[in-house]
Amino acid sequence: MSRNPSASPFTVIAHRGGSGHAPENTLLALDTGIKMGAHWLECDVQLHEGALLLMHDLRLERTTNGKGRLADLPLAELRRLDAGKGQQIPTLEEVLDLVDQRAGMNIELKTWNGTAAAVAKVLREYVAQGWPLDKLMVSSFHLPELYEFRQIAPEIPIGVLLCGVPLDWAGCAVELGAVSLNVSDEFLDERLLADAHARGLKVYVYTVNHPEEIARMKAMGVDGIFTNYPERALG
Ligand code: G3P
Ligand code: MG
Repeated sequence: MSRNPSASPFTVIAHRGGSGHAPENTLLALDTGIKMGAHWLECDVQLHEGALLLMHDLRLERTTNGKGRLADLPLAELRRLDAGKGQQIPTLEEVLDLVDQRAGMNIELKTWNGTAAAVAKVLREYVAQGWPLDKLMVSSFHLPELYEFRQIAPEIPIGVLLCGVPLDWAGCAVELGAVSLNVSDEFLDERLLADAHARGLKVYVYTVNHPEEIARMKAMGVDGIFTNYPERALG
């Protein structure tokens, strides 16, 4: 089964926000993604001292003017760092306030040991205030943490992240009750795509930036992509 373009539009997910145009995982990047027309925004979240911080790497050097491991710095110090163009490392709550339902939010759990519970608590507060469930997705490569999230907040959609091809193809996503398989472009086997679709799952592919690869993904019938350049995939 492949995607029927007239039935379901190709979903464009701004990876780490519109990170081709603004410092990744910052409010500026997320706002940029929205302004470019991305349907969804993806961000990476780490739990630290009770705060949910947007940060992909475990270390600070690549994306901030800080040094060392995020986990080794006090929260107040992390919040004083420059994450690019004068941006602060944002919290999940700041992100949700900024986005304010203007796009779907895919929150990727990068840490464990309580991250699932902390994210579930925050998202439930926003859902209670009117954020629609179909504009939320929680994902992770850490499947036990994702399983824990599922146990705590079964009403919030989840996506299984894969950077490989499991022996049972898309089976783990069904087992977890996920709505989608979010798979690396390096491992997009047609059989994995077909199996996911046969099981009623969406398939979103990361991170697809080159126009030729975007066209290839569309031709293969994937349901959407994560891209740093949303404008290349829209239209
Ligand atoms: O969620 C898709 C993608 O963000 C997963 O990989 O390393 O960019 O977080 P990474
Ligand atoms: Mg990510």
